[in-house]
Amino acid sequence: MTRALIIDTDPSPDDAVTFLTALAAPELFELLAVTTVAGNVPLDLTTKNALKALELAGRTDIPVYAGASAPLVRPLITAEYVHGHTGFDGYDLPDPVAKPAAGFAPEAIVEMVMSRPKGTVTICALAPLTNIALAMAREPRLAEHLAEIVIMGGALSEGGNVTPAAEFNIYVDPEAAARVFTSGANLTLIPLDCTHQARTTAARLERLRAKGTKLAEVFYHLLSFNKRFDEQKYGWDGGPLHDPTTLVWLMHPEFFPNGRRVNVTVETGSPDTLGMTIIDWWSVTGKPANALVLRDIDAEGYMTTIIDRLGRL
Ligand code: BDR
Ligand code: CA
Repeated sequence: MTRALIIDTDPSPDDAVTFLTALAAPELFELLAVTTVAGNVPLDLTTKNALKALELAGRTDIPVYAGASAPLVRPLITAEYVHGHTGFDGYDLPDPVAKPAAGFAPEAIVEMVMSRPKGTVTICALAPLTNIALAMAREPRLAEHLAEIVIMGGALSEGGNVTPAAEFNIYVDPEAAARVFTSGANLTLIPLDCTHQARTTAARLERLRAKGTKLAEVFYHLLSFNKRFDEQKYGWDGGPLHDPTTLVWLMHPEFFPNGRRVNVTVETGSPDTLGMTIIDWWSVTGKPANALVLRDIDAEGYMTTIIDRLGRL
């Protein structure tokens, strides 16, 4: 049976790889929609990039709903310094012909989830959690009606990538993240500790390119551009391919050997630690678990899965 899936995202290439990989696994996923939010770049560009990637894959049948153009209470912070001004620098894809679907993403999420049986729709959340928090505010039963939400965000002992304490997706909209982590939804969190192990090394990108398809060639270039920032910052071969970990977790849980159900809270007050995920890995607080946190990944299995699936499109 396929899993009904919504992907909430702010494309950048690693976001796009996630929904394209889902489309390349039709025996596992029914992608209901891609919902976009402001994050890596402003909303008009994240929406455009989602449409461009779907058009490249010949899948304009997948609706793209645009959502929040700013975090719940704070001004938007973007990451052009990583992904370039378009969010998709590295390959000049044509402007999309398709238009976004009519409707506001948080409302579309509520409609898609609540019109299906309880426990049947999964959300992969790859961006600031603004759309998800707004959807939860609109429909208080949403959290318990969902099957689960798999979130790329936060950090445990890895430290932050935008401040010493905070990871980008949580930092951009900490109030939204706090709302989601107190919602009671079935949550899985994949923090930087895990995604920093999963890198687009030169050899892996060559394997992708060797698939010989247009899409593989485009993503070879997008991910090559994308990794230069992280390579310089961390001194690694390759940059982390963060967001597809959410999808591959659903496909191959055996690639994620070190997970614990623990309590996670989000800092929304202190300026120095704003957006930090406080992950009680050792259960020292005695607070009830509200998320499964995945700390490690079989990077080779993960990247091979992505390369193989993208090569089918
Ligand atoms: C997250 O930030 C974005 O730039 C990536 O797409 C990922 O969702 C990593 O911190
Ligand atoms: Ca993202």
